[in-house]
Amino acid sequence: MSPPDPLRHLEAELAKLAADGLLRLEPRVEDLVGDGLGPVIACSNDYLGYGAEPWPGAANPATPSGSGASRLVSGEHLEHRLAERALAGWLGADDALLFSSGYAANVGAVSALTGPGDVVVSDALNHASLIDGCRLSGATVVVAAHLDAGAIERALEASRGARRRWVVTESYFSMDGDTPDLERLRAACSALDAALVVDEAHALGVFGPAGAGRCAEHGVKPDVLIGTMGKALGLQGAFVAGPAAVRSWLWNRARSFVFSTGVSPVLANAVSSRVARTAGDELGRARLRAAEHAMRDELRRLDVQVVSDDGPVLPVLVGDARAAVDLSQRFFSYGVKVQAIRPPTVPLGSSRLRITATAALTGDRLDRVLAAFGRVWG
Ligand SMILES: Cc1ncc(COP(=O)(O)O)c(C=O)c1O
Repeated sequence: MSPPDPLRHLEAELAKLAADGLLRLEPRVEDLVGDGLGPVIACSNDYLGYGAEPWPGAANPATPSGSGASRLVSGEHLEHRLAERALAGWLGADDALLFSSGYAANVGAVSALTGPGDVVVSDALNHASLIDGCRLSGATVVVAAHLDAGAIERALEASRGARRRWVVTESYFSMDGDTPDLERLRAACSALDAALVVDEAHALGVFGPAGAGRCAEHGVKPDVLIGTMGKALGLQGAFVAGPAAVRSWLWNRARSFVFSTGVSPVLANAVSSRVARTAGDELGRARLRAAEHAMRDELRRLDVQVVSDDGPVLPVLVGDARAAVDLSQRFFSYGVKVQAIRPPTVPLGSSRLRITATAALTGDRLDRVLAAFGRVWG
């Protein structure tokens, strides 16, 4: 499958940067030797030299605790490349690029990939980081009603004259626990030469074969996939996965990557091992499903309406912001933390309780949650 127009354009832009002597190339892997045989680093920000020291107790004693600088300066370490290859291998992408957070990944990727003259069709309930990336990009943003694939198709049709077209969506919305029609979005993008950007923050580790997410579950290959390590992987940071040209472009142009310290090599090592663990953790996913089903069953028994009908996100719509906070406080008084989510995180009048199942909710802990449901709503 040849890449859509927006990605073909990246290849041309990268060639132009190279011709002008402006392409920033990352160090070759063989130059990233961490045993004192590499160059003496004389351009880092590791002023007291702590970053170069291993972190006590780290699994690999040779791993420096800090990267010391942006990866474009001197912060590139072998551990970054290994983590990125592990992530790309897991998700069947060509490559990946680590960011310090999902917020940074989304703002950086969307604003670097799209620009003035482009049309970005964005789901109305996309995460703030995607919205901010759209705003920063200078592209024309068409906000499509939540999960409305028809509205997205119409917006793509109506923007045939645009320089380039993009569709940006989450794959499992964290506030509503619902999923767009990914097959239909893929088909629409392919038919109209648009690029599909999918944020899988809440789906990785949870859905799909080997926990590879909702796109994998639906047999859909997005052009750009964003994932975080702060959710199911239980760490911190994020990545953008996709074709090599996307990675090179972000390496050169994503401001939240270029102008930010590379993630700690200790974290990068942890990412590699968590990817392997997550991919193989069918037992963890089974425990997660068991908690989800027990919680859904109890809420159903109590006649409490849950917004979603699958996955670990079980939002209970309250409406009024104060009522949501009151309920949250009642849960707290029963020893259970359930956060009230209010505008502007969610639309006006749709305050809710954020309830999520996790694999850690077993035995007494799960019983305590189910008992609190009964005390609040019984
Ligand atoms: C869909 C989505 N994308 C991105 C992020 C941001 O990720 P991070 O917490 O790593 O900044 C979040 C976090 O809540 C999210 O829900």
